[in-house]
Amino acid sequence: MSEKQLQVIILAAGKGTRMYSSKPKVLHDLAGKSLLQHVVDSAKVLNAQSISVVYGHGGELVKNTLNDDQLIWCEQKQQLGTGHAVQQAIKSISDTADVLILYGDVPLLRKETLEKLLQAKAQQSLALLTAKLENPTGYGRIVRSSQSENQAMDECPVARIVEEKDASEAIKQINEVNSGVMVVNGGKLKQWLAAIDNENTQGEYYLTDVIELAVKEGETVNTYIIQDNKEIEGINNKIQLAELEREYQKRQAMMLMTKGVSLRDPLRFDLRGEIETGQDVSIDINVLIEGQCKIGNNVKIGANTVLKDMIIGDNVEILENCILEKSIVADGCHIGPFARLRPETQLSENAKVGNFVEIKKSHIGKGSKVSHLTYIGDTEMGENVNIGAGTITCNYDGAYKHLTKIGDNAFIGSNTALVAPIEIGNGATIGAGSTLNKNAEANQLTFSRAPQKMIDGWKRPSKTK
Ligand code: UD1
Ligand code: CA
Repeated sequence: MSEKQLQVIILAAGKGTRMYSSKPKVLHDLAGKSLLQHVVDSAKVLNAQSISVVYGHGGELVKNTLNDDQLIWCEQKQQLGTGHAVQQAIKSISDTADVLILYGDVPLLRKETLEKLLQAKAQQSLALLTAKLENPTGYGRIVRSSQSENQAMDECPVARIVEEKDASEAIKQINEVNSGVMVVNGGKLKQWLAAIDNENTQGEYYLTDVIELAVKEGETVNTYIIQDNKEIEGINNKIQLAELEREYQKRQAMMLMTKGVSLRDPLRFDLRGEIETGQDVSIDINVLIEGQCKIGNNVKIGANTVLKDMIIGDNVEILENCILEKSIVADGCHIGPFARLRPETQLSENAKVGNFVEIKKSHIGKGSKVSHLTYIGDTEMGENVNIGAGTITCNYDGAYKHLTKIGDNAFIGSNTALVAPIEIGNGATIGAGSTLNKNAEANQLTFSRAPQKMIDGWKRPSKTK
């Protein structure tokens, strides 16, 4: 790697007409991040000295969404071409820097590829990232001048780039294309940009015209031909957005499996964020992981489960169809199927949360069980508590939220309503069907059930024929 300073310019002024959206194209989401954020992030891993973003449509929204004061924002009021776009960012470019030009709508470039391109530039003034495509339609073609009969085409020097719209039939046959990504010496870039015009079919200032200017000055234009063509694909419509989303998901799935995670089907796995995993983690189909998740050793995640910003310990089993968000689950817990953990929930070791249970902003103590059909909110629960089916903590009085406290070893009978604020003592037993609005004493049986009655001679109504 050259030790030269690196400055990045990201072109993101295009409108994205074919997205048919009120949102600027570069703000569309791929795996939980905007397209532009993906590109900014790849510039950041290269330790770029500065990152300039050329914006046009929806400028304020783009700036506010990225909300990153390390970026240099350059407005391009009218989209007069890629050369004109780079010109808008030229003020902050140093003459001695390597300038890497990226597109805000090309999100899948790998760090390794960009490093190869920077290496390819070496001592030259310019290097291009190119690709060989079966169908090169739409792209600018790399025209090389042949030198000798037995020289491979790839080794012949680049002469110029011709845009599809300006290309003759013969040039359209060339299948080596311009990815749009290039690295150029700062000083030369300034000089060449000042010299380009817009005399072409589209009446645009083409960045690609700098190639011919360089060649005229006797410069050698080096190239790095990309291995994985997906990396240079841009997004112009929702079909391409979905295709690249899947591609990105496949990459992430491969990365996780390489690290030892078992994915039942890598094509039915989605990660929109980051995940840290221990050993022997197995993930069934249609699992969606969002935000920042950390998962311990020997964890099973059942089908159709969503995890968002979760911290999960070792030996945890999550069954099918759970939605778990911003919560902490300690070692040995069992969750689901059909369980929901809402933000700020904490399950201590070996706790159990069963089906159709919702828990919000509560702590469930070690070994406590909330097995069926229950709502627990704003609750501090001790150890080895058993919550019967259909228990509800009534935490909301219509204006304020109130707390429930349940002591160690308490047993709450089924179909109980605990009207908060309320405290259930250690070892207390609550009879099934109770509605409690006063504290229950430790180690006592408390219930508020209406006495059972029997009506003598009562008959069930029946229809008369
Ligand atoms: C460009 C290249 C072409 C290459 C192709 C790869 C030029 C002249 N052509 O063509 O050789 O094969 O990319 O996809 O450079 N943009 C601005 N301001 C503008 C124009 C464009 O910011 O005035 C941005 C767009 O938002 C986009 C990028 O630059 O991110 C490329 O623009 P686009 O119109 O897609 O370029 P192409 O004509 O496809
Ligand atoms: Ca394009």
